[in-house]
Amino acid sequence: MSKLAASILAGDVLHLGDAGRLVTDTGCDYLHFDIMDGVFVPNLSFGPHVLAGLKTAVRAVYDTHLMVCDPMTLIDAFAKAGSHRLTVHVEAKNFEESLAKIRKLGLGVGASLKPATPASSLVPYFDKLDLILVMSVEPGFGGQKLIPSQVDKIRELRALGFQGEIEVDGGVTLENGPLLVHAGADTLVMGTSFFAADDPQAVADAVHGF
Ligand code: DX5
Ligand code: ZN
Repeated sequence: MSKLAASILAGDVLHLGDAGRLVTDTGCDYLHFDIMDGVFVPNLSFGPHVLAGLKTAVRAVYDTHLMVCDPMTLIDAFAKAGSHRLTVHVEAKNFEESLAKIRKLGLGVGASLKPATPASSLVPYFDKLDLILVMSVEPGFGGQKLIPSQVDKIRELRALGFQGEIEVDGGVTLENGPLLVHAGADTLVMGTSFFAADDPQAVADAVHGF
């Protein structure tokens, strides 16, 4: 059974509470919360106050993905806002210190890699990680197409010995989902494929059946 992390970035900003409730009502495993600083990626999204506000209305497992240059400056704020797990990029500043800080706060510890970053770059950190988030598009925007070479990266992480959770994020659909799971992914992140679906419940049920 695969897990589904619905990315609220694709939810209706005018009705963010409803979007969040859809995530929990349909039985999604995580509410994926994308944070962008406009420098690490050419876009901006939400701040910690948005997560804190949403959390007052939606009891989900908040899976926060920090696409920012210096995560050390934001980890405390997102922990306080209510993130359950925090994922930082290996390409960001103070990567190892960030992992240690997240661990010390008692949250799930995640590392992400951009499409051009090799799987081997995370080998020295495997024992410090609960999860690896494989970016299957260039981070920054929802609604892109999955880059097929990233399927091999999932396989490679498993071949290199990573036994924790692997999430895959960007351009994930019901069509390519089984392939990603077969390669070794445990959790599929879906923005557009979930929120723009005619029947999000059917999407969640299908992913849980993979
Ligand atoms: C992209 C984000 C993704 C995004 C996925 O930078 O990290 O989480 O929301 O959206 P879709 O599923 O539409 O590609
Ligand atoms: Zn993400």
